[in-house]
Amino acid sequence: MPIPKAELHLHIEGTLEPELAFELAARNGVRLPYADTEELRKAYLFDDLQSFLDLYYSLMAVLRTEDDFEALAEAYLARAAAQGVRHAEIFFDPQAHTARGVSIGTVVEGLGRALDRSRERHGISTRLILCFLRDQSAESALATLDAARPYLHRIVGIGLDSAEVGHPPAKFREVYAVASALGLRKVAHAGEEGPPSYITEALDVLGVERIDHGLRALEDPELVARLVRDRVPLTLCPLSNVRLRAVDVLEAHPLGRMMDAGLMCTVNSDDPAYFGGYVDDTFLAVRAALGLSESRLRELARNSFLAAFLDDEEGLRERYLAEVEAYEFGTG
Ligand code: ADE
Ligand code: ZN
Repeated sequence: MPIPKAELHLHIEGTLEPELAFELAARNGVRLPYADTEELRKAYLFDDLQSFLDLYYSLMAVLRTEDDFEALAEAYLARAAAQGVRHAEIFFDPQAHTARGVSIGTVVEGLGRALDRSRERHGISTRLILCFLRDQSAESALATLDAARPYLHRIVGIGLDSAEVGHPPAKFREVYAVASALGLRKVAHAGEEGPPSYITEALDVLGVERIDHGLRALEDPELVARLVRDRVPLTLCPLSNVRLRAVDVLEAHPLGRMMDAGLMCTVNSDDPAYFGGYVDDTFLAVRAALGLSESRLRELARNSFLAAFLDDEEGLRERYLAEVEAYEFGTG
């Protein structure tokens, strides 16, 4: 049995497995430029974030209807349950869909159908986080937040993703201020490929509560001291970092050093259909590659619930934390 955990950094579009992509393509009459799932999988060799994003956005062409988004979320939740996930905070990229003529309502209502029955069917509580594409304009982000207004009861917060370098957090100062006034929680990708100064800027200018990735934090000792002091959670994604070549090999990943430095780390899967594993696969991989102790693994699981946006649900965080403390590691 995998250790109970929350997944806090998961792009729902990044859970689109090749088999489902082909099924949806057939259903919607979309032609994919790959003969079959095997040929598609062969394209999953990335040089960097951008080379992944190109494929990630192009495959989204198969997602057209509420049924498609429901099927996508349902497939993720079933896999996540088997990986010990008890709570999932799920990113979605509305601009990647509205640009193709799919409305934000179709996306949110479709995902919502699967999320609404998730606790009953899979034992997983859920949240939705709307992400802005940082390589699009600030005006487009504002228009997206406006279009999301009828669905805000389904959305806990906002995030910032896509191509990082050259698109610093401050570009989105205004939309984060508007979201804050609406009572939305705030996170942002920072320090994945971009410099540690983007992490500082996301905290100072956007007022984010968690940093997605934060991989490059160790390069700035002052920033590390601040992140440790303020217990700012980092949602690290080690398998993603290897596949997108932010680190050479998993054995060289800074996760262990970051935990030793006192940073509040969590481990997540990012885009598991593309990066070779879901979240417990990631726990097992970092355990083997970095020699993490059981106490470190328990700390990662504990941190995931401490960093979750669970405040409004009476007792849920405490119940999950108790499950983590009661967990017994097996031998296999
Ligand atoms: N969108 C999906 N996955 C992403 C990642 N790892 N970084 C930035 N944007 C993303
Ligand atoms: Zn991500």
